Amino acid sequence: MGAYSLKVDPSGWNWIGALADTGWAVSNTIIPLHLTRALADEAKALHEADRLSRAGIGRADDHAVMSSVRWDKTRWMTRESEVQAAYLDVMDSLRLALNEALFLGLFSYEAHYAVYEPGGFYKRHFDAFKGTRNRVLSTVFYLNDDWRAEDGGTLDIFADEASEVPITSIAPEAGTMAIFLSEEIPHEVRSTVRQRYSVAGWFRVNDRQTAPGLQVVTGLSGVPIV
Ligand code: OGA
Ligand code: MN
Repeated sequence: MGAYSLKVDPSGWNWIGALADTGWAVSNTIIPLHLTRALADEAKALHEADRLSRAGIGRADDHAVMSSVRWDKTRWMTRESEVQAAYLDVMDSLRLALNEALFLGLFSYEAHYAVYEPGGFYKRHFDAFKGTRNRVLSTVFYLNDDWRAEDGGTLDIFADEASEVPITSIAPEAGTMAIFLSEEIPHEVRSTVRQRYSVAGWFRVNDRQTAPGLQVVTGLSGVPIV
């Protein structure tokens, strides 16, 4: 299904530079359209066959706590289908491109489908605790056509844990991928009006004790991707 290459990113938007500068970025050119459609179809089919299950939060697997924090259903990707294998292959080529550009030492990637039913949300959180150096880089790829402002369900990114106004609100529109540092970026899924499908994933390092942190390559953000 085609690997991801920074050198042929058709948009010319240097999202890796933005990621290095700010810790988060959005790209619409990582996953090709036919794969996006196939992922959306599979996510819907799996959900309709009741193959997704309520997600937990870390060790706090208490149902009452969980329901006040997040309300989504998930299913891990396992290469059980061609479309999952194709997605994981593109993300693995992205892993290599990120290692080359940012020296992140990313070792593996894991991802799950997620669906939020109307009324679903995920309160502000980090995807990894500082110092545990487990999940390094988070990705969320969206699968919903024609998302409108009144549908809610944005991914809101905040400058810090306390700020009330987000830096950005990302609509979960098909083809959009949000990428951010798992330990650094507080984020939240606002209550959704429509059913909301995505693939959430995390790049991990092998040994968090010795892995490098994010290194901004001098001049990288000024280098256009051609
Ligand atoms: C998550 C998460 C964001 C989104 O699954 O940890 O923050 O936009 N998802 O679905
Ligand atoms: Mn998250």
